[in-house]
Amino acid sequence: MKNYDNVTIFNHPLINHKIAILRDEKTSMKEFRELIEEITTLMTFESLKEGVPTIEREVKTPLEVCTQQVVKDNSIVIVPILRAGLGMVNGVHVLFPSARVGHIGLCRNEETLEPYEYYCKLPDGIEDKLVMIVDPMLATGGSACDAITQLKKRGCKNIKFMAVIGAPEGVSRVAEAHPDVQIFVSTLDRCLNENGYILPGLGDAGDRLFGTK
Ligand code: PRP
Ligand code: URA
Repeated sequence: MKNYDNVTIFNHPLINHKIAILRDEKTSMKEFRELIEEITTLMTFESLKEGVPTIEREVKTPLEVCTQQVVKDNSIVIVPILRAGLGMVNGVHVLFPSARVGHIGLCRNEETLEPYEYYCKLPDGIEDKLVMIVDPMLATGGSACDAITQLKKRGCKNIKFMAVIGAPEGVSRVAEAHPDVQIFVSTLDRCLNENGYILPGLGDAGDRLFGTK
């Protein structure tokens, strides 16, 4: 895959260790859910190194008064792509407990692999917030592109997208369609199979999170 200015592939040893357990078909639903949350928290920490709205606050230490940067209240909205994105929400909330949550329901048509939208509920004023779209899997990129387009139509200008595993095809598609969106992926896998599943991947993230198969 070519290099894109708006794409960061973490490839971090601690995250990779957790992804190895996540991929394992023997990993239980409980452990899978916990790992997705832990990985999300690690990714959030790094993804929000830049672009978080902050303000200055005066703090009185035991020794003197100083000025400290703090995260601006009500400045971040998490938008999980249903269903699997739900598994990442708590991982962001660990760091930003007051972040509001919008939901976009997208499901891939198993034949065309194109997503269709079945639900969308976003907090008022989202257009002025930093929006973190989360979905564990970025495969063809159809769902990510669609979610980003929906948010842009509602006026959102500051959007980041976070996925645990990406396929080169999908990452390139989103990076080229939305060069203004920062894309963060923990690991880049080899390719997609004929059914649009990521190889080696981890299977169907939604089914593994919610035990639907
Ligand atoms: C999965 C996954 C992504 C999408 C990625 O969701 O959680 O949303 O596929 O594929 P794409 O990049 O090719 O669009 P799915 O449509 O299976 O729905 P689910 O989360 O309800 O299982
Ligand atoms: N969605 C998943 O859950 N897994 C894949 O490999 C591709 C899309």
